[in-house]
Amino acid sequence: MDQIVIRGGRPLNGTIPIAGSKNAALPLMAACLLTDETLTLANPPHLADISTMADLLAELGVTVDMDGVSGNGEQAGRVLRLTADGDIGRTAPYDLVRRMRASVLVLGPALARFGEARVSLPGGCAIGTRPVDLHLEALRQLGAEIELEEGYISAKAPDGLAGAHITFPSVSVGASENILMAAVLAEGETQLANVAREPEVSDLAHCLVAMGAEIDGIGTDTLVVRGRTSLHGADYSVIPDRIETGTYAVAAAITGGELRLRNSRMDFLDSVVDTLGRAGVSVTEADGDILVKRTDNRLDGIDVMTEPYPGFPTDMQAQIMALLAVSDGASMITETIFENRFMHVPELNRMGADINVHGSSAIVRGVPELSGAHLMATDLRASVSLVLAGLAAKGETVINRVYHLDRGYERVEEKLAACGAEISRVGG
Ligand code: UD1
Repeated sequence: MDQIVIRGGRPLNGTIPIAGSKNAALPLMAACLLTDETLTLANPPHLADISTMADLLAELGVTVDMDGVSGNGEQAGRVLRLTADGDIGRTAPYDLVRRMRASVLVLGPALARFGEARVSLPGGCAIGTRPVDLHLEALRQLGAEIELEEGYISAKAPDGLAGAHITFPSVSVGASENILMAAVLAEGETQLANVAREPEVSDLAHCLVAMGAEIDGIGTDTLVVRGRTSLHGADYSVIPDRIETGTYAVAAAITGGELRLRNSRMDFLDSVVDTLGRAGVSVTEADGDILVKRTDNRLDGIDVMTEPYPGFPTDMQAQIMALLAVSDGASMITETIFENRFMHVPELNRMGADINVHGSSAIVRGVPELSGAHLMATDLRASVSLVLAGLAAKGETVINRVYHLDRGYERVEEKLAACGAEISRVGG
């Protein structure tokens, strides 16, 4: 298995191109199941999770065409064409779904278009129990009959889905996306309340509108959908990855360098910009790029709480913890979205960090310096927090199980090395 080897202590300086958003691209790809015409997606990232979704769709019988490459530090017009015509299967099998939890996103669109779908119960990052009850309950409210049998979700709506008023009991990105995709082909009007406001949900809604859906309230927590009997193909461009952007912003801050982040969007990053600002990191916009650097030599400890968008993203929690581990004073980080999302803590402590977890909060007492160590990556964002810590640490850091990183970060070592990091991937 590959390892990432880092010799830390070098400030990063340069430009990093930001890829298309993984979490936006995955539901957009599933949306191809809503029509027999071609859905063309520009700017999808080159990532293992995207390949897994492409494999799953191909397994169902979707024609998947991938053009263009991303290389030379810039996106080079990669385009994904998805056509769900002909004989489309109804079953998403375990060996594909277990690789990635977002596979469950094929459930809503397949059920809405074909009147039945079977999807294995999902796997994905080991960050808590992560049930799918909110998805299933909302589909039931749209008239689906759902059973769980032999590890599969079996959903049927022989006469089609029917519009309903649905209030999600808690905010879920995936459930909002799944149900939105089901509702666009349901008969009549669907009102969805307490919808996740993450930019990835809005991106999906905009794409569905481009495919002929009628959706009001995009960007708010209440969506009104007037169902259509069919949708058509569309050309759509995936939004930039706000988590990749935030991660490289932390890379600039933790190494005391200055990075220019290209092809991203500052308006998706308000809470991250605000949080970094409180810690002493300046994030500004210049000529369409995002510039990040420390305002002072040292950083300040701060308190951070993860929340649904527009709050601070749980997907940035591990990265901000690496940063606060080398800031002055104490910080408290509270995780409100996922249980068991502190798996990076023991690894950061092995590098000399001083972090104590109490329930859903972690107290981080800043230390002057981290030191390199042999580490084990556990989940996607935990892995990248170890890369960030390694960039700042004294000596050599070796990170094992890097396949987690490849699920969410395109060419991570290349992008960092181009800005002066001493980082390489070695085959294990
Ligand atoms: C998505 C993102 C993930 C991010 C998360 C929160 C994708 C592919 N993944 O995951 O990177 O960390 O949003 O921003 O977009 N829950 C239930 N029942 C359900 C569904 C969710 O209890 O049926 C709970 C989860 O266990 C979790 C919380 O709701 O505690 C939020 O999860 P959710 O927003 O659904 O996350 P995902 O869509 O899985």
